[in-house]
Amino acid sequence: MKDDNFIKENNAKHLWHPMGHPADSLAHPPKVIVSAKNSSIVDMDGHEAIDAVGGLWCVNLGYSNTAVKDAIANQVYELPYYSSFAGATNGPAIEASLAVREMFEADGMSRVFFTSGGSDAVETSLRLARQYHKLRGEPGRTKFISLKKGYHGTHFGGASVNGNNRFRINYEPLLPGCFHLPSPYTYRNPFNETNPATLAQNIAAAFEDEVAFQGPGSIAAFIMEPIQGAGGVIVPDASFMGLMQDVCNRHGILMISDEVITGFGRTGDWSGARHYAVKPDMMCMAKGITSAYFPVGAALMSDKVVDVFENDTTGDGAIFHGYTYSAHPVGAAAVVACLSETQRLDTRTNAAARGIQLYQGVLKLQAKYDIIGDVRGGQGLMTGIEIVSDKAAKTPMDNDTMKRIHQAAYEAGTMVRLGLNNILMSPPLVITEQEISQVLAALDKGFAAA
Ligand SMILES: Cc1ncc(COP(=O)(O)O)c(C=O)c1O
Repeated sequence: MKDDNFIKENNAKHLWHPMGHPADSLAHPPKVIVSAKNSSIVDMDGHEAIDAVGGLWCVNLGYSNTAVKDAIANQVYELPYYSSFAGATNGPAIEASLAVREMFEADGMSRVFFTSGGSDAVETSLRLARQYHKLRGEPGRTKFISLKKGYHGTHFGGASVNGNNRFRINYEPLLPGCFHLPSPYTYRNPFNETNPATLAQNIAAAFEDEVAFQGPGSIAAFIMEPIQGAGGVIVPDASFMGLMQDVCNRHGILMISDEVITGFGRTGDWSGARHYAVKPDMMCMAKGITSAYFPVGAALMSDKVVDVFENDTTGDGAIFHGYTYSAHPVGAAAVVACLSETQRLDTRTNAAARGIQLYQGVLKLQAKYDIIGDVRGGQGLMTGIEIVSDKAAKTPMDNDTMKRIHQAAYEAGTMVRLGLNNILMSPPLVITEQEISQVLAALDKGFAAA
């Protein structure tokens, strides 16, 4: 690699960064991360920080897992690539599909379609949901319903079911036939309801109402995250997902559980749906599937969906959808090693314990700082802190103050992520008790600088 002066000189000059303004990147060049170890990252100036973001909700095994690194390196030498389009496959892909299937058998999943990431997994699920209904003789089922505050990636399908308008407005018109229900967000909702169980019932009633309005025979699928991540870590009442599934089941609507963040231990179990005893019809996976060491995603199918495709004799069950990198042998080798390590280290158990520690620590900070309007989490290693300038009026904190908190926390040794006026945290699932204490101490310094 070129020397540090070259890197600093050229930072943001040729690269447009996702999820930011290009002019802002030029004015304030991004931090250059040069190395990482266990749960910490090091920037170009030699500053070390605990990565409370886990890369981007994804480096579940931390940065030092040699089993995954070796598996990738070995596979690059053995077979760096071959297509998996019908007619060819590779050993690692076969092994990886079985490993993923076994991990989510308890959720009712029995087939795996590999993709290059989470947005692709969502796109695959939405497209196959429509095809499923066409195969069953209900071609009119084309609409999708989802939740406000939900994040489902940035392809046109995913953006269309996305429930955060900053990912939508500049890209409209999106797909027709996509409709949104309120989020199970007790801090702000149109029902003005703070009781999570009552809010869950209200949203289920709104779903029932929307289905009647649209016509049940027009709806292909309902997609939701078991815990909304990018929207602010919104943990619903335990009844919520089941209530939504009841509506789906009553009206022949497929339920897609978007587990791109919540899969592979982040919530304290291998899937988010499992906490709520819900077996969805499809699941979307990515991130923790390789701990982000290689870009891989997957759409998973239950027997209900599989039977319709595999028993088709018309030819219309052929899947004319897929990616050059679907079932990539190097990605698949990463999946096999990552899932084996995930299970060996039983990361879900540490995620549950450290998640409670982080959540309770932030609740203590809330008692100290009036700017902390809402704290969400407690279900695994996902914590959201909503910052307000006026607690009574719940006024969202301005951007400059949010950036000041972020920078002060970073200087104090912890990288967090900002999502509007929320601080979002999703550290590696191998993070230690002492590191969580360090994260809390750095947050304290961040809030003091607000
Ligand atoms: C729930 C959810 N779905 C889909 C995606 C999109 O995944 P990717 O960024 O890998 O395309 C994300 C990304 O954060 C996500 O959180």
